[in-house]
Amino acid sequence: MGKEKIRWGLLGAGVIIDRWIKGAMQVEDMEIAAVASRTAESARHMAEKYGIPEVMSYGELLGRDDIDAVYVPVPHTAHKDLTIRALEAGKNVLVEKPAAVTAADFEEMAACAKKNGKFLMEAVWTRFFPLAGKLEEVLKEGAIGDLRLMQSSFSFRSTPEAAPRLFDPARAGGALLDVGVYDLHFADMVFGRQPDAITGMASMDTDSLHLKVDEQNSFIARYENGALAVMTSAVRTTMPDTAWLFGTEGSIEIPVFWKPQKMHLVTDTRDEWIEAPVSQKIEGIEDEGYQYEIRHVNDCIRSGLTQSPVMTWEKTGNVLTLCDQLRARWGLRYPFE
Ligand SMILES: NC(=O)c1ccc[n+]([C@@H]2O[C@H](COP(=O)([O-])OP(=O)(O)OC[C@H]3O[C@@H](n4cnc5c(N)ncnc54)[C@H](OP(=O)(O)O)[C@@H]3O)[C@@H](O)[C@H]2O)c1
Repeated sequence: MGKEKIRWGLLGAGVIIDRWIKGAMQVEDMEIAAVASRTAESARHMAEKYGIPEVMSYGELLGRDDIDAVYVPVPHTAHKDLTIRALEAGKNVLVEKPAAVTAADFEEMAACAKKNGKFLMEAVWTRFFPLAGKLEEVLKEGAIGDLRLMQSSFSFRSTPEAAPRLFDPARAGGALLDVGVYDLHFADMVFGRQPDAITGMASMDTDSLHLKVDEQNSFIARYENGALAVMTSAVRTTMPDTAWLFGTEGSIEIPVFWKPQKMHLVTDTRDEWIEAPVSQKIEGIEDEGYQYEIRHVNDCIRSGLTQSPVMTWEKTGNVLTLCDQLRARWGLRYPFE
């Protein structure tokens, strides 16, 4: 691939797109060439708002050979089919989290990327924040000794009226697949390996709304050296979305760990906040931090890679395997399974 800008197509025009585009606008070597939707109205609205030149159907966008990469920000249940269609059409793909509903589905997607020689990555943007790099350094230099326990929660209280997808079993709703995956990816980031075992509990159908998905859950992963990750996610209970890391020689607190910009390191000799704010270059447009994953994808595509060295297929598969195990334990099966 030459020096020209990477041309992106957006497959969908839902809630997340509006936030992601603000990150894409910070990135120099790309342009958003087109946005597609099943209903032209939502795509047209997005195109007008952000000056995207063309609006078309999913099929038309995938048929365009002047588009290099697509972003797949649709409900979890539509990730697999749309990703496979895009890869078969010769596109590089950034697919939203969770990359698929099950580990087996993701395996098919990864095999398709391999077969077509195209790039595929799950959009776990947390891994690309500058603070994530600083955290890795601090852990590597042993600032808190051996990491013994991580505690994290990502949760909020919502309703089916406000966010229908989250509560719809037919769209793989529930807390684990929507936000619990952030806890699991964060555990993978800080421990750097798959746990030996995972267990947990979930609350389903516990109030007058009779929700058939996990309203809240709590799960614990155990690593071979006895370290633990104690995690919670919820769509019906608000808790602080902070991660804490406790080591043999100190601790680190990371507020809003899923889009981290600062951390509090405390040891016998240090008590300091380490900061790495998201950079902004466009007045009035605030990126929450999507620019870093997008730059990474562009770099990978320019290097001709099929997978990211950071957000590997193996890591995506590992997290989805843990989700499969937890859902089996909770008896949470979606109607299409
Ligand atoms: N990285 C993040 O920070 C972040 C934040 C929020 C969400 N997400 C992820 O992004 C994905 C989308 O979330 P969202 O809240 O944006 O979802 P959403 O608003 O419910 O849906 C997004 C769009 O998907 C399109 N779509 C395509 N196929 C569909 C199908 N079979 N059923 C329903 N809609 C379909 C719809 O567009 P048309 O009707 O116009 O075709 C819809 O506007 C989820 O997987 C979620 O986990 C990520």
